[in-house]
Amino acid sequence: MRKRIGILTSGGDCQGLNAAIRGVCKAGQESYGMSFLGFRNGFRGLVEDNTMELESGMLSGILTHGGTILGTSRDKPHRMPSKNGTRDMTSEAVKTFRKHRLEALVCIGGGGTQKNALVLKNAGLNVITLPKTIDNDLAMTDASFGFDTALGIATEAIDRLHSTAMSHDRIIVVELMGHRAGWLALGAGLAGGADVILIPEIPYRIEKTAAAILARKKAGKHFSIVAVAEGAMSKQQEKLVSRLVSAKGKASSKEEKNRARAELDRFHFEHLSHTLELTRNLEKLTGVESRLTILGHLQRGGTPSAYDRILATRLGSACTEFLDRKRYGIMVASKGEKAEAVPLEEVAGKKNLVPPDHPWVKSAREIGTSLGD
Ligand code: F6P
Repeated sequence: MRKRIGILTSGGDCQGLNAAIRGVCKAGQESYGMSFLGFRNGFRGLVEDNTMELESGMLSGILTHGGTILGTSRDKPHRMPSKNGTRDMTSEAVKTFRKHRLEALVCIGGGGTQKNALVLKNAGLNVITLPKTIDNDLAMTDASFGFDTALGIATEAIDRLHSTAMSHDRIIVVELMGHRAGWLALGAGLAGGADVILIPEIPYRIEKTAAAILARKKAGKHFSIVAVAEGAMSKQQEKLVSRLVSAKGKASSKEEKNRARAELDRFHFEHLSHTLELTRNLEKLTGVESRLTILGHLQRGGTPSAYDRILATRLGSACTEFLDRKRYGIMVASKGEKAEAVPLEEVAGKKNLVPPDHPWVKSAREIGTSLGD
């Protein structure tokens, strides 16, 4: 009998999701005679049984398209939004899986998706995940699709900002995505020749950042480009976050934990405007006119790079080999040019952050880029 496989995309969209859906379904259909049922809008589609048949016609022409033909959401089956907060709807997800007599479910997503997939695995489902994220923060894989394209977009933006910053003798602060990781800002800052790069893993001092800009001015360079990760923090802010995180870890009751989580969420919400504050403070401290550019979701849109198309396609087709061998409960990780199975337990809840001694950091320092520390 033909193996019937479910598939969904979850979390923030990124380039390469359609290439991955195509890779999984085409390889499954062509090489193993599998058939595929798509769930719309991430895990919500699984919980609500909202489906879409993925016949071969649906897969034509999608390789080069951004976004995802399946739609996506950040909903978690075990914490679905409901009128009175959230509800555990894992059993509904399991019911849908059984109703369609699925052999397995492929979940394409980032950190949140890996955790959701583990919940479903523990509820008895056969699950395989694929790594996607523009943040490059997934553990246990050398690469995740989305990152390379976003890096290209961010680099091009920094290139373009150079000529206007130079013409006006201005500081231009450019905020880049990356969630709590600095890969995108560090990579684009390095590739685009930013003068200052601020990332969450290396808390900065505003005085040091301003001093680096003033030193450039003294050397006759009257403009500066500051690439800032959305999650970057000053040393003071980092201390506050560490305190909140440790309070959450030490909380002895559910109420205490919820309170600590709420405080942490409030900090991150208020921190959303930190690059505007940073821009104003740099202007004050240096006397150099300053502007802010927030690239935002531009980094997630449009056609995937060749690298991301290849990565998504090869991980997608490797996924069908694991499906054929009934190797479940894993993420299909990229290791060099190979695909490897990594148990979900080793991925879920872990993060790939920039090590402070990473070669990119070392190289940035060596060429005189300020990291604000
Ligand atoms: O995880 C990808 C990402 O783009 C992060 O870089 C960013 O912090 C977040 O998603 C934004 O999420 P949303 O699209 O839900 O605003």
